[in-house]
Amino acid sequence: MIIGARLGGAPMLFHELNRAGCKTYLAACEQTNRALLVDPLKDRVDRYLAVLAYYRLTLDLIIDSHTHADHRSGVWDLRELTGAKVVMHRRAPAPHIDIHIDDGGELAVGTLRLNFIHTPGHTPDSTCIRMGDRLLTGDTLLIGGTGRTDFPGGEPGAQYDAIIQKIFTLPDSLLVFPAHDYRGNVNSTIGDEKRSNARIAGRSREAYINLMNNLGMPLPTKIQEALQANESAIDDDSLKFPTLAQLNEVRQLDPAEVESRLLSTNPPLLLDVREADEFSGELGLIRGSILVPLRHLPEHAKELEKYRDHEIIAVCRAGVRSTTAAAILAGLGFEHVCNMKGGMLDWNDAKLPVER
Ligand SMILES: [Fe+2]
Repeated sequence: MIIGARLGGAPMLFHELNRAGCKTYLAACEQTNRALLVDPLKDRVDRYLAVLAYYRLTLDLIIDSHTHADHRSGVWDLRELTGAKVVMHRRAPAPHIDIHIDDGGELAVGTLRLNFIHTPGHTPDSTCIRMGDRLLTGDTLLIGGTGRTDFPGGEPGAQYDAIIQKIFTLPDSLLVFPAHDYRGNVNSTIGDEKRSNARIAGRSREAYINLMNNLGMPLPTKIQEALQANESAIDDDSLKFPTLAQLNEVRQLDPAEVESRLLSTNPPLLLDVREADEFSGELGLIRGSILVPLRHLPEHAKELEKYRDHEIIAVCRAGVRSTTAAAILAGLGFEHVCNMKGGMLDWNDAKLPVER
């Protein structure tokens, strides 16, 4: 189905491509034939390329509204095949994001203007995208519902604040296009959701948190194969990821605690598991840390043998890949492994010393 729209006088092509409960949106400027895809699935990349070719569109941006737990993201395959740039919120844990956006960020595709609104809660990196008369709400605001907040990093209070303070203060007439809908809806409006969203309309913050903490939903069937692959951009089955139960056992230390241990007489080994370009990139590195990218950790574990009885603290961009690394090492019998919570993002936010 093509949903025609006009943005600032320019015609826009807008198309949901999966025709299923999990939504991928194509938007394109019809003046310039430049396009963007939002939330593409890895197993539908061929279809997206066919549609782009059919409309003679050039793909400029590939956006994930957040790190998905229910399907493998198609952004990496699409970038490799088209050269388009991958866009995610700066809190996204994965490496190789070409453009990190933050709350209030703007991007252009042809004559289309995209405005990003950071809406954490479902995940720390959830973002909504406003384009003219419509808002792509990801898994933050669904039609008649909201995205679950019980995955790692989920926070119902933050989600309530984002929806009430940021989304529900937008114009009532703005069209809402969510990342999921299993009831056959195409879209609603901000006004509809403010009036009748069963999860959040008229509910207090406290009541909302209580409701979300007691939904008791089963985990998505693909979470084990999808979530850590999307968090790490390792989507080729080359790494055996630990189980969610193993991840939950990893001890988390905040950056200030890591800093104080580094200043002690018996400092821990800092194991940075980012990619080499990130290690020398904008977030810098912590002095003395050694680099072993997550994807190479199993084959390099032997070199860490001498640290087996030593404390090891895993570090990465957002503290997510490093939790996977810590769980892998724990599975190999390393007993004193912790993770630095929030990664180099939180380390930088805390204004702790970095080397570049
Ligand atoms: Fe999601």
